[in-house]
Amino acid sequence: MKKIQRIYEHKDYQHYLSEITQMEVDRVYCKHDMAHFLDVARIAWIMCLENEIKYDKTWVYACGLLHDIGRGCQYATGEPHEVASTRLAKGILEDAGFEVEEIEVILEAISSHRSKAISSQQDLAGILYRADKASRACYTCKSIEKCNWSNDKKNLKIEV
Ligand SMILES: [Fe+2]
Repeated sequence: MKKIQRIYEHKDYQHYLSEITQMEVDRVYCKHDMAHFLDVARIAWIMCLENEIKYDKTWVYACGLLHDIGRGCQYATGEPHEVASTRLAKGILEDAGFEVEEIEVILEAISSHRSKAISSQQDLAGILYRADKASRACYTCKSIEKCNWSNDKKNLKIEV
């Protein structure tokens, strides 16, 4: 998992991460921090194992760590964060040592991680979408009433 550590230690990654942390300091809704990124990575990996969907573990973790890295751009300019994340993730993945074909699959998943159209796909994009949604603990959230997620989207029970 050296490549994943390289992503985490990348100076741009750390920069975008700290920008998001500062911008979300007063946010009452779900944050976009390392806890969320690792929750998504681990849930996505469990989904791969349970459904016998064979992806390299580093691809799954790369998606988890990078899918929301463009959140700061969205706050600053209004650019949709899946677009910003895809743009910012490319150079970080290259520097971390991923091959061109690997980067293509990872970026495809990141760029579509908010698209309902791919939500049930049995591929990395579909898994990232579902893991992202499943990662949110709505049942324990103090801002649940104000949240703009529809009730059918919220995780109101612990699903096993
Ligand atoms: Fe996310």
